[in-house]
Amino acid sequence: MKTIVILTGAGISAESGIKTFRDSDGLWEQYRIENVATYEAWQRNQALVMDFYNQRRKQLMDVKPNAAHFALARLEEKYNVQIITQNVDDLHERAGSKNILHLHGELKKVRSSIDSSLIYELKGWELKKGDLCEKGSQLRPHIVWFGEEVPQIVPAAELSAKADIFIVIGTSLNVYPAAGLLNYVSAQHPKYIIDPNALNNYYISNLTIIKEKAGIAVSELVEELLKD
Ligand code: OAD
Repeated sequence: MKTIVILTGAGISAESGIKTFRDSDGLWEQYRIENVATYEAWQRNQALVMDFYNQRRKQLMDVKPNAAHFALARLEEKYNVQIITQNVDDLHERAGSKNILHLHGELKKVRSSIDSSLIYELKGWELKKGDLCEKGSQLRPHIVWFGEEVPQIVPAAELSAKADIFIVIGTSLNVYPAAGLLNYVSAQHPKYIIDPNALNNYYISNLTIIKEKAGIAVSELVEELLKD
């Protein structure tokens, strides 16, 4: 069975109604990264950071996976599929995909601010001041903030190196180390980028760029791959 590895970003969830970060109406137009998505921001103003992620978590309860998420789950009928997502939503899980590695954390989880191995599923959408881990420290969002290490990058690179086919969907490839994963895929294997605003300046062999929205383009590519 061939292995397909898929790197997804905010664009795959856009048609579910979740804002991307860097498009013209994206989240980073509304908020400054350094105020809500860094450890320094958390130290300075926990209430603001908690509220930012509480709003994202609340919204997640009102949205559903879209055609692209469901199409990726269908690929498992014929392939060994591994999803590496930069997204903190749970739409791949809800669409039925089995192997999902979250590079940047998960919105529905929170963790201890003194022991990063203490991770909990949050009940409901709201994390509050005074919600404590078992060691007595304030719980924080289970998110990899800018400037923090990305613990899952090593397994993600290993998975990328094993890909027979590699598909990138809905990411501006602005954020490292995630953006570097394409470089781990072996030169002779096919690679695809699906993004309506994909750039043309990739010097990567066997790369097909599909400049369309994920809902249509992922469904079409999956149909093709299931025929092979
Ligand atoms: P970006 O907002 O940087 O990029 C989203 C990409 O999705 C853009 O290239 C859009 O063109 C594309 N897009 C928009 N609508 C689409 C659609 N319907 N179908 C397909 N593509 C579409 O988001 P990411 O690349 O995911 O990290 O951002 C990477 C990381 O930066 C995020 O995980 C987050 C952010 O800051 C943290 O918060 C740590």
